[in-house]
Amino acid sequence: MEIVYIILISTVLILSFLSYLLKRTKPPAKKLRLPPGSLGWPYVGETLQLFSEDPNVFFPSRQKRYGEIFKTHLLGCTCVMLASPEAARFVLVSQAHLFKPTYPPSKEKVIGPSAIFFHDGDYHAAVRRLVQSSISPENIRRLMPHIGAAAAAMLRSWDGQVLSTFHAMKKLSFDIGILVIFGQHLSEQRKNELTKNYFTVDKGYNSFATAIPGTPYNNAMKARKRLKEIFREIMEERRGRRTSHDDLLSDFMEWRDDGGGGKLTGDQISDNIFGVLYAAQDTTASVITWMVKYLHDDPQLLHRVKEEQMAIYETNGCGRQPLTWAQTRSMPLTHSVISETLRMASVIAYTYREAVADVEYKGLKWWDATVRWSTVHSQYPSTASAFASAGAKRFSAVMPHQSQAIVN
Ligand code: HEM
Repeated sequence: MEIVYIILISTVLILSFLSYLLKRTKPPAKKLRLPPGSLGWPYVGETLQLFSEDPNVFFPSRQKRYGEIFKTHLLGCTCVMLASPEAARFVLVSQAHLFKPTYPPSKEKVIGPSAIFFHDGDYHAAVRRLVQSSISPENIRRLMPHIGAAAAAMLRSWDGQVLSTFHAMKKLSFDIGILVIFGQHLSEQRKNELTKNYFTVDKGYNSFATAIPGTPYNNAMKARKRLKEIFREIMEERRGRRTSHDDLLSDFMEWRDDGGGGKLTGDQISDNIFGVLYAAQDTTASVITWMVKYLHDDPQLLHRVKEEQMAIYETNGCGRQPLTWAQTRSMPLTHSVISETLRMASVIAYTYREAVADVEYKGLKWWDATVRWSTVHSQYPSTASAFASAGAKRFSAVMPHQSQAIVN
C-alpha cells in the first residue's frame, strides 16, 4: 500500500513540476494591435469624405498617413483596407481559408442575399458551375452570331452621334447579359421593363442605404422588387408552357442536386439572375471603355490594332460575312490590349472578405479585409504610368515577334 502512495505522490510532484516548467517556457501572449486609421463620425464613418473626395485622393492620403493596412468606416461597416500585393496575396491565396466573401449589407440587400457572392460550400459550387457553363467557350461560340449582330447594330446606331462610351457599352453588355440568361425568347416589352428597372437599381447601388422615399437607394430597392416580380413571371410562363431553353435561366430552373431531390428556389434563382447580370455588365462595360481611352491616348498602338482588325474585316468581305469564333481566337495584339487594360484599369475596385478565424498579420489583428485593386495593381514593378510605355513593355514580354512594331 505504501508503495502505491509513494508512486501517486511522485506522479503529482512530477506533473506539477512539468506544468510549472511549461508555464515558464511558454512565450507571453503577443499583444496584437488593431490597424491604424480613423473610424470617422458615428454611424456615417468616413463615407461622406469618400464620396466628396476623389477615391484616388481619399485612399492614397490615408495610405500615406497609416501605411499599407488601415481601418476606416464606410457605408455602415468598419473595414480594414489593404493596399499591397503582399497583403492581397495573404488574404486571397495563402491564407484564403481564414476568410469568407462578404459585402456591405446595403449591397447584399440590393443584389439579394441568395446570390452566389454571399455563399460558400455546396450551394456556391453548384451555382458557380451553372454560371461558368453559361459563359463557357462552347456557349459563347453558339451565341456568337447574336453577339456579333448586337454589336454591329449598336455601331450602326452611333453614326453621326456624340455619345458616352461607358453608357453605350453598359447598354451593349446588358443586352448580351440578357441574351445569355434568357436566350432569344424575350419580347421587346419585357426587355424594356428589365432595362428600365435594372438601370434604376444600378443608379442607387452605391448610395448610402436609407429608407427615405425618393432617395437613389430607396428607388433602387423598389426597382429591385419589380425586377424580382418580372423574373418570377418569366419563370411562371416557362413552367406553364413546359418549355426548356438553352439558356442560364433554364439551367437554374432545371438544376437538381446529386440526390435528385434538391432544386433552387424562386428567390435563389431570382437573386442569382440579378447577381450575374450585375457581375457581367458593369465590369465588361468598364473594361471596353478603358480600352477605348487607352487606345485613343496611344495612336501608334491604335494603328496596329486597327490593322489587325481590318485584315479580318476584309477577309470577311468587308463585313458581309459574320465574325467567326476562330477569328476571335486569332487577334493576338487585340487580346494583349485587353489583358493590359484589365491590369491597368482594375475595374473591380474592391474585393471584400470577412475573417472567419483570428487573423494575425505583421503584429496586427483584423476582422475583415477589403482589397483595393487599383493600389495593388499599380505596385507591380513592371508598371509604368502611361499606357504607351507600359503597354509596349508588357506586350514585348508577351509577344516578342510584335514588340518592335509597337515600340517604334
Ligand atoms: C472583364 C470583365 C470581368 C471582370 C474584370 C470580372 C471580375 C471579377 C472578380 C475580380 C471577381 C471576384 C470578386 C471577389 O472574389 O470578391 C468576380 C466574380 C464573379 N464574376 Fe466576374 N468579372 C468579369 C466578367 C464577368 C462576367 C461576364 C460574368 C458573367 C457570368 C461574371 C460573373 C461573376 C460571378 C458569378 C462571380 C462570383 C464568383 C464566385 O463567387 O465564385 N463576371 N468577377
